[in-house]
Amino acid sequence: MAHRILRPYFLLLTLFVQHVLSVSYEKIYQFDSGEFIENIAARSNGHLLLSVLTEPNLYTLDPSVPNAKAQIIHHFDGSTGVTGIAEIAHDIFAVSAGQLDLRTFQGVKGTFAVYTVDLTASAPVINKLADIPDTTNLNGIALSPFSPNVLLLSDSASGAIWSLDIKTGSSRIVLQDPLFEARPSNPLGINGLKTRGKYVYFTNSAQGIFGRVPFSVLSTASGPAQIITKVPGAGFDDFTFDLIGNALIANHPGSLYQISASGVNTVLINSTSIVEPTSAIFGRGSNESAKTLYVTTGGQFTVPGGTGGQLFAVTLF
Ligand SMILES: *[C@@H]1O[C@H](CO)[C@@H](O)[C@H](O)[C@H]1NC(C)=O
Ligand SMILES: *[C@@H]1O[C@H](CO)[C@@H](O)[C@H](O)[C@H]1NC(C)=O
Repeated sequence: MAHRILRPYFLLLTLFVQHVLSVSYEKIYQFDSGEFIENIAARSNGHLLLSVLTEPNLYTLDPSVPNAKAQIIHHFDGSTGVTGIAEIAHDIFAVSAGQLDLRTFQGVKGTFAVYTVDLTASAPVINKLADIPDTTNLNGIALSPFSPNVLLLSDSASGAIWSLDIKTGSSRIVLQDPLFEARPSNPLGINGLKTRGKYVYFTNSAQGIFGRVPFSVLSTASGPAQIITKVPGAGFDDFTFDLIGNALIANHPGSLYQISASGVNTVLINSTSIVEPTSAIFGRGSNESAKTLYVTTGGQFTVPGGTGGQLFAVTLF
């Protein structure tokens, strides 16, 4: 009996997992020319945080306000751009920044660091957590699956995941893997990083890979990296998950992929008006905003006067 009741529900769920029937999107903000949005995070109050790679600024924007403008929260002196963002405690975010040449995507060794951005009081409080001296391109940040005191950092240049102990500031490479490596034609290997269950999921931009690494309770990899899907020629960037475990991946030069847990991939959006998608996150703050997927773009940052970095609100039906 229970079986009979459950089965139609299961079929519906299966349909939903594999097919999004319709997608609509709307641009809600665009930076001036030359500003490349790299990453996005959503605060519990619904405000969005945007890291910009072409200037060392972290921005905030309230998407519930019509025609809202992005405002600078912090300028990271000594850096040229801001990369990863991850919430490490209620309204406290870890943010990475360093010096990076955007024409070549090569960074300067010794300039990368991870900061905490504490938004719990009315004025933001920013502190340096640690320098990560031995990297030339820190990109994504995620929390270790089993330890809230350990951050994982993707190193797009050397094809590695670093760990950073929040309490001591000590860092080390957890895993280097062929699936994280860059290619001579594209210096960005492992890029986005997100934790779900006991796995750390990643994209590799150069190799068109979406994959995962199993983690142990000691915040070490308990096996090699695994491929979930590989799309030759894809330019996978940062990503997020929906409630049932589909990954929504920003893909250069103009699309959004949905990849199911079993690796079935669907192109949800492909449009020349979405210029170089870089990351995606679901909204927070209300049940309504949790249905909205916010997608950032880099824009035509190498073209003088070209399209600036954009922010889209995407609805998946
Ligand atoms: C997007 O559309 C263009 C033009 O039709 C096509 O060449 C490209 O392969 C499409 N990208 C994806 C990811 O489907
Ligand atoms: C939001 O969703 C939760 C969980 O589905 C539900 O319990 C709650 O009543 C909803 N709130 C509103 C305002 O609809």
